[in-house]
Amino acid sequence: MAESIQGLKRTSMCAELSESDIGKKVTLMGWCHKQRDLGGLTFISLRYRTGEIQLVVSPDSSDEIKEKASKIRSEFVLACVGTVALRSAPNPKMKTGMIEVNVEELRIISEAQTTPFYIEEDDNANEALRLKYRYLDLRRPNMQRNLMLRHKIAKIARDYYDEQGFIEIETPILGKSTPEGARDYLVPSRIKNGSFFALPQSPQLYKQLLMLAGYDKYFQIAKCFRDEDLRADRQPEFTQVDLEMSFVDCDDVMNCTEGFLVRVFKEAIGVDIELPIRRIPYSEAMDRYGSDKPDLRFGMELQNISDVASKIDFVVFKGALEAGGSVRCIVIPGGAKFSRKEIDALGEVCKTYKAKGMAWLVPSAEPRGSFLKFLTPENIAELKSVTGAGEEDLICIVADNGEVPMISLGALRIEAAKKLDLIDPNDFKLCWVTEFPMFEYSEEEDRYVAKHHPFTSPMDEDLDFLESDKGKVRSKAYDIVLNGCELGGGSIRIHNREMQMRVFKALGFTEERAQEQFGFLLDAFTYGVPPHGGLAYGLDRMVMLMANCQSIREVIAFPKVQNSSDLMTEAPAPVEEQQLKDLGIEVSETVHESDIDDEAVFD
Ligand code: AMO
Repeated sequence: MAESIQGLKRTSMCAELSESDIGKKVTLMGWCHKQRDLGGLTFISLRYRTGEIQLVVSPDSSDEIKEKASKIRSEFVLACVGTVALRSAPNPKMKTGMIEVNVEELRIISEAQTTPFYIEEDDNANEALRLKYRYLDLRRPNMQRNLMLRHKIAKIARDYYDEQGFIEIETPILGKSTPEGARDYLVPSRIKNGSFFALPQSPQLYKQLLMLAGYDKYFQIAKCFRDEDLRADRQPEFTQVDLEMSFVDCDDVMNCTEGFLVRVFKEAIGVDIELPIRRIPYSEAMDRYGSDKPDLRFGMELQNISDVASKIDFVVFKGALEAGGSVRCIVIPGGAKFSRKEIDALGEVCKTYKAKGMAWLVPSAEPRGSFLKFLTPENIAELKSVTGAGEEDLICIVADNGEVPMISLGALRIEAAKKLDLIDPNDFKLCWVTEFPMFEYSEEEDRYVAKHHPFTSPMDEDLDFLESDKGKVRSKAYDIVLNGCELGGGSIRIHNREMQMRVFKALGFTEERAQEQFGFLLDAFTYGVPPHGGLAYGLDRMVMLMANCQSIREVIAFPKVQNSSDLMTEAPAPVEEQQLKDLGIEVSETVHESDIDDEAVFD
């Protein structure tokens, strides 16, 4: 029989009690974490958000209390009145390990059935099960810590931007579908059957319009929605700390961001960030790290060895160079010890990133390698001296077109660092990546698409190439990168109609289509526009990295899985026929849960 808490008032949170409270009468409420019945003497560890404390029901307690205590199981909700006492056998692992509470009144407020997994710090329960019973998973101390850290980070963001003169303004969730981004989530209109709202992929255009409206400094903790393939750091709905400033250039936005980063790292996790944060132009990031989000916690930088390679009589190198490509490598320290199987596995990593293959060489006294028969002793000596490889090292080489050698070796660099355990998880290395290409060629669409978004301003010195050589145009965009993860991105925006039209045209828009899709913005640009720019951080990613988690699902209360479904509520789900009728929607084909590949649940 469940009892009520009537007449009781909680006086303390479990883990906030300490030795200074000894002798105090307290009223506590929480969950039974564990109950141990030692025949007459019962220990109950009572858990609340702040931690645990031990309750003691002694042989001297009343029969009623003893009987109740013997019935208590894990996850029962309890209320108790008792006196804080010094523990005879302290538990140094517990925050409240020096004390306990001798129970004088005990109430069972709610019973619980056996949970499908233990509510423990590191219970290795299957993630699908954890997500189905997320409300139980969220009781685990590590999940509670993650969500409390998330709260703290959001609070620091609000405080910091408020102090810097930003104002928080909410922007609509029901908006207009616009091209040039990820796939939109659509919401059908009941009033205007056949028309749809789109959920915002970000507040981008609204925040620009707020600058136009004279708000000067905007910020928002904003929900964003993108119907894209999920990964460990991507969710279909996620949260941005989004901001925009007027009358600024790149340095102003970056400096303001650095101020926030210093503050949030210090206040949230006690880490000092050194300023200024290193700025790496995109081309250098690709050349040295094979990535536009370089992980700077370890070396193993990429090297361009096209000069040396041109002297080697190896068709793979020659062919790539003649086709205008390059030959690049990384040197894996101590990699000579890898087995053939391990080296082949590294080659497979390169192939995943479109490399045709990976050549390798151990430049020891008796060299080993995949293309040894094409190498003269002089070639080997030169490769060794140019790359700085030692006899114990492994040189991994990719020869290919465009960015393939960089991107594949960039991925290999990360893989090798993980394999050699070179990454310190407690190290936080931030950098800015700047001067991004304005456009990138999409093979799928057979046209240039915007690398950031079409509202990003091209660099002044590259404007002449907008029509003639799009691949050459760089933009005033910047990404903030933490430990190889894109934490945030932003840019200085275009703020005049003509330039915006030139960029739309470069993206293949006709004047009419640009007007149809973005008419409100183009019109707005005729009413006095301040130069402006901004940035958005992924809040989920920031919390994930600060909490040292491997996935943003660990820092989101109710996340989705790989196929964008929610295992707890089973959304998305079919709706009533009448609801569809109201919306003027007819479903041509229904996909049932059983048709979905289970493998697709997690990345
Ligand atoms: P961008 O698209 O780069 O820029 O997004 C900014 C940041 O949001 C986070 N992010 C995501 N986090 C989780 N799941 C996702 N699916 C996801 N997609 C993006 C990343 C990313 O760096 N409006 C621009 C910003 C601007 O120009 O001011 C924008 O949205 O951390």
